Amino acid sequence: PGTAVRGDRFSSGPAREFLSSLAADAAIFEADLAVDRAHVVMLAEQGIVDSAVASEILSALDGVEAAGHGALSDGEDVHEAIETAVIDRIGPDGGRMHTARSRNDEVATCIRYRLREDLLAAVEATVTAREALVETAEAHAETLMPGYTHLQPAQPTTVGHYLLSYEGGLSRDTARLLDAYDRVNRSPLGGAAFAGTPFDVDRDRTAELLGFDGTVRNSMDAASARDFLAESATALATLATTLSGLAEDLIVFSNKGVVELADAYASTSSIMPQKKNPDTLELTRGVAGDAVGEATGTLSLLKGLPRAYNRDLQRAHASVFEIADDVREATEIAAGAVATADWDEDALATAAGEGFSTATGVADLLAMAGLPFRTAHEIVASAAPAVEDGDDPATAAAKVDEAARGVLGESLFERVSREAVERVLDPTESVASRDSAGGPAPEAVAEELTA
Ligand code: ARG
Repeated sequence: PGTAVRGDRFSSGPAREFLSSLAADAAIFEADLAVDRAHVVMLAEQGIVDSAVASEILSALDGVEAAGHGALSDGEDVHEAIETAVIDRIGPDGGRMHTARSRNDEVATCIRYRLREDLLAAVEATVTAREALVETAEAHAETLMPGYTHLQPAQPTTVGHYLLSYEGGLSRDTARLLDAYDRVNRSPLGGAAFAGTPFDVDRDRTAELLGFDGTVRNSMDAASARDFLAESATALATLATTLSGLAEDLIVFSNKGVVELADAYASTSSIMPQKKNPDTLELTRGVAGDAVGEATGTLSLLKGLPRAYNRDLQRAHASVFEIADDVREATEIAAGAVATADWDEDALATAAGEGFSTATGVADLLAMAGLPFRTAHEIVASAAPAVEDGDDPATAAAKVDEAARGVLGESLFERVSREAVERVLDPTESVASRDSAGGPAPEAVAEELTA
């Protein structure tokens, strides 16, 4: 009888393969079994299906689960194939399972059921990554490093301050995923094809059995809506974009020789024996491209779809599950790479002072002594070409003084002490002086760590 049911519904012509989602539906095999069980229990509780039949269906579903997705004979999709398998096991009564529902509300429920797990796995990965960033930041709260703008040396900072900047981004990524989760976590089941059903279904009950936090009430909305896929894909793409920046930084730092990845996170060359390449980070950067593509692709697929169900929707979800998995994995790998990397403190400290990176501190000092900031900026800017990497604070201070004589017509040291100028030219002192809230001074970082 099963074959007859399938034969009636499923085109046997050249479009058969094209129509079928059975292979991709492996991702929602478990979800569909859960949805079937909840629906059958509700049907029995409501007196829509006899409880003896319901229990036969439930046993058949156990058998289908034990046999696995791979044992399903071909069908247009997993929903139809499971129904066919149930009918094959217990006869025509198996067909009562599909009372008061459609594949449209069924698949929408399966997608949400599966996506909840993917989103929670991604959330867990972001939390673990944030812990790794915080621990590494604590260990390097005083480790100097160069801070860049435009990838040019800008002002010295610390590794702790730098890493916490990404913890901030990842905390918002976590919140975005959890926000998406709240909207995913609603049951469309019982909406039927889109137009409801004359049976006395209890939609709140199936929602409860499946662990949803309520229903998508309007039956047409329930069957049609996939905005939750776009929202999830966008939240994942935003997370992947955060990670791509971190990955890019570490690739640059490896290139500069100030960070060395642990061997477990590096790769070598098949021809150049000396190579140690940051491939894990390059793949992380690459995943962000795919994730942005997924978000764009999802929105493009949904754009302009009329109500209610259209078969285009069959192509919307499988790739979101895949990107969720890729982004989760990239999050775990990026966190591991950061936590196990060797931050070369001497090389970082040297690099921190390069490119006259303490210049802003001298201008700030002069402005604090009463000079208009713009005049102070002009003095230090005119000294900049003369200041060289390797100048000690005394040498650099003398060069700034010379510039000041040109601009002001008098020595700088009439206004600020030589010691104070030399102090702000030292990268460690420079960092320590920037103790505004959220700044890089070790006390400010310590405060951020305990906040
Ligand atoms: N496999 C379909 C999907 O994933 C669900 C089937 C609904 N099909 C239909 N022709 N109404 O969207």
